[in-house]
Amino acid sequence: MCGIIAILGKSAVATALVDALKRLEYRGYDSAGVATLEDGVLTRVRAEGKLRNLEARLAEHPLHGHVGIGHTRWATHGRPTEINAHPHATGRVAVVHNGIIENFRELRDALAREGAVFHTQTDTEVVALLVDHALERGLSPVEAVCETLPRLKGAFALAFLFAGEEDLLIGARQGAPLAIGFGDGENYLGSDALALAPFTDRIAYLEDGDWAVLSRSAVTVYDAGNREVTRPVSLIPAGTLLADKGNYSHFMAKEIHEQPEVVGRTVAHYVDLATGTVRLPEEVAIDFAAIDRLAIAACGTAYYAGIIAKYWFEQLARLPVEIDVASEFRYREPPLTGRGLALFISQSGETADTLASLRYAKAAGWPALAVVNVATSTIARESDVVAPTLAGPEIGVASTKAFTCQLAVLLALAIHAGRARGVLSAQEEQELVDALVGVPSHMTKVLARETQVEQVARDLAKARDVLYLGRGLSYALALEGALKLKELSYIHAEGYAAGELKHGPIALIDEAMPVIVLAPRDKVFEKTVSNVQEVAARGGRIILIGDAHAAGEAGLAGETAVVMPEVHPAVVPLLYALPVQLLSYHTARVMGKDVDQPRNLAKSVTVE
Ligand code: F6R
Repeated sequence: MCGIIAILGKSAVATALVDALKRLEYRGYDSAGVATLEDGVLTRVRAEGKLRNLEARLAEHPLHGHVGIGHTRWATHGRPTEINAHPHATGRVAVVHNGIIENFRELRDALAREGAVFHTQTDTEVVALLVDHALERGLSPVEAVCETLPRLKGAFALAFLFAGEEDLLIGARQGAPLAIGFGDGENYLGSDALALAPFTDRIAYLEDGDWAVLSRSAVTVYDAGNREVTRPVSLIPAGTLLADKGNYSHFMAKEIHEQPEVVGRTVAHYVDLATGTVRLPEEVAIDFAAIDRLAIAACGTAYYAGIIAKYWFEQLARLPVEIDVASEFRYREPPLTGRGLALFISQSGETADTLASLRYAKAAGWPALAVVNVATSTIARESDVVAPTLAGPEIGVASTKAFTCQLAVLLALAIHAGRARGVLSAQEEQELVDALVGVPSHMTKVLARETQVEQVARDLAKARDVLYLGRGLSYALALEGALKLKELSYIHAEGYAAGELKHGPIALIDEAMPVIVLAPRDKVFEKTVSNVQEVAARGGRIILIGDAHAAGEAGLAGETAVVMPEVHPAVVPLLYALPVQLLSYHTARVMGKDVDQPRNLAKSVTVE
């Protein structure tokens, strides 16, 4: 979850380290720090909280070293204080770490028995001390790291800086991503290509177990058995990675408004606009007729995209689907027998539980298909087939455009599966594809109604608890609505299948509880209307998201809060996602919350 950067530069690197950390802040923002060599001496500046605090510290205590490491933290072990902020250092070595050292207590106890004194509550400090002790015994930095790495259990990426070593950095990867950037007389380590984008477009990804020794003129990579290996260098143009807010006050607002464009781009990648048929790109070669089961695993919003996909694959392709949150899938150890396909959905492509689930499925002998946004990510690289979402970089911590692009890809795949399995006729395919192709222009219309949503948000901001209800394809959107609202505004919210209302949550209904009902006119509309009336009968405050006639038909004339276009029921989730996102965005904004970086969250969850 944390972000790592390391630079062997030609001039002072502190500013470049901080700039890189800004691009990595999506991985965590509890604290940040940098270390450089000042006349060969390890010197650190660290600060609790956002990067601006670190920048303020650096303004008071500038660093001048030409080699350095930096870190932005999402706290796992130890509170997010300055003491616990990385880099962690002794007089001889400084280290930044992303991930978890699972056996740190055992190592800490062993070090304590040898007389080591600990200054932090972090798991990382043991790494600094282990390397330090090896250096103290006379080992070289390379030997010290080489001796230490096999003692560490868990998932981690590390970058080391050594006192007196002006031309040396060492990086290591085990389960958490780490990339090497090759510059002109400079070399770099970073958690991802985005961090390295302004410095270089030549990137190599370390594989699990790899560690790398960098100087300004050379990079040597070793595998887990300490054999020298070569990792391919890719050209990753900076323009494909860099992101800014444009005219918007938040990345989330920009990303919500980008959806017509990026969903259009994603749809165009999967359909033949001329013939109105799904045409999968060559590399997305899947024979859906040859399988009889699909298992989906993902986390958070991507998991909700998976639930919607389950409905699509079952209804349009009659393909049985089971779905788990990835943290359950990996430990539930489902028997993957027969002719199956495992599908993983992830924006970042680095989510630890999703990656572990992918590895589980592959080990069980099932092919793995990944719907991912970051094409260079670990999940993309380890999958058998990658169906990319073309959402572009998503910086706001709450997923928006990546979600609707995931839905676009998943619907295209389900339609394709429906044809391949002889369930859909050519005409049905054409109708569905036409509906999918029409989504971006409908999205533009929905976004034009943002002021309606803003009005509702002002009201919602006063609520203590909120209930979201939906049925069928809107059920997972109700879950997504509740997740978005709580993560951004910290208002307690729950999403329910509308039919479950009377099995418990109806007890919560009173005049103070807003109930947001997603009521598209699909085949379960009448059922949803009955649930709306049950809420109305108990004095509940209904906020209806439906088409122009929905409120009238629900017996709530004049109560439709957000008027939606009438569309083919299959594409409803792509469109209804927008008011759901806007509602959370505006509620959080009205409440003055940090929309792009909500508390305690991180964009890329690389620890389990
Ligand atoms: C919520 C959100 C998260 C992510 C989840 C999975 O707005 O963004 O719930 O969807 O952490 O992340 P990825 O898609 O990167 O695997």
